[in-house]
Amino acid sequence: MARTLPISDPETLAIAIEALRRGEAIAVATETVYGLAADATNPDAVTAIYEAKGRPRFNPLIAHVADIEMAKAHVDFSPLAERLAEAFWPGPLTLVLPLKPSAKIHPLATAGLETAAVRMPQGFARDLIAAFGRPLAAPSANRSGRVSPTTAKHVADDLGERIKLILDGGPCRVGVESTILAVMDGVLHLLRPGGVPVEAIEDIAGMTVKRPVPQSGDAVIAPGMLASHYAPESALRLNASTVRPGEAIIRFGGKRLAGEAEARVVMDLSPSGDLNEAAANLFDFLKRADAAGATGIAVAPVPMHGLGEAINDRLSRAAAPRD
Ligand code: TXA
Ligand code: MG
Repeated sequence: MARTLPISDPETLAIAIEALRRGEAIAVATETVYGLAADATNPDAVTAIYEAKGRPRFNPLIAHVADIEMAKAHVDFSPLAERLAEAFWPGPLTLVLPLKPSAKIHPLATAGLETAAVRMPQGFARDLIAAFGRPLAAPSANRSGRVSPTTAKHVADDLGERIKLILDGGPCRVGVESTILAVMDGVLHLLRPGGVPVEAIEDIAGMTVKRPVPQSGDAVIAPGMLASHYAPESALRLNASTVRPGEAIIRFGGKRLAGEAEARVVMDLSPSGDLNEAAANLFDFLKRADAAGATGIAVAPVPMHGLGEAINDRLSRAAAPRD
């Protein structure tokens, strides 16, 4: 069973660095979701991530950096990419940029692509990377296909038997994964909506962000975009306005649904209608709904602006038909 150490504990950083030097994959809190982090330059360490998650190796990982200089050692920044990094780093924005020939990020981490996804996280995760001195590859710390973890307990429940160390930073502030943006020839392509709203990116860039995902041959551009990702165990019903008996209800903005007395449990993502609060609660509520022994999960409509785009994206994937 994994050991959980609070990030506030003065010994935690040194213990974590030792584990990373040994090539282990360790779980660490970030402002978005918990990541399963390992040395991005060490093929054995990167392999440990794929194995613990049961993740297909064609699905590349984000390389997390401590500062722009560390990122620039591995990828090329256009002036536009640099402007976005300056505006949103550290924070929940991942940039997909061309790999440099001299890059030390291992091809296993990029799945052999000619680009790499890079992000600078906030807080302890960033301090850890700075102290380690190399980029950390880190997908969300869940088994492949499952809902991302936003607490140390979520990680322990899902991966506790497969990893040795969890660095507990409490509940994640943002609660949904980073926004992934490909910056190609001066054009911005949204690969995954996330913790930075598209409107905020467009404000800084002074241009429109292109959706949907560009298709380049058979290459997987952002496999996190595949349907039936982020799946809870129970069947999920979207845009619900009424309750079916025994369902777990996830509503928004304090709006009651018809027949709530018949529900197994009723949760409100944000009674005051705050989309940031809703994002922070989303994955925890999906897990609670799963644990409630309900006949299914029904979710009320959530507005599409701000973090609502990321929330609706995760909900529609969670509701997608499964194989
Ligand atoms: O907030 C986050 O982004 C979290 C925390 C831990 O930082 N990480 C995360 O990683 O969500 P993951 O592996 O669950 O999602 C990364 C996504 C995947 O969909 C992957 O396909 C895409 O990034 N990706 C990675 N490298 C890419 C590349 N070179 N080009 C396009 N997409 C890429
Ligand atoms: Mg993930």
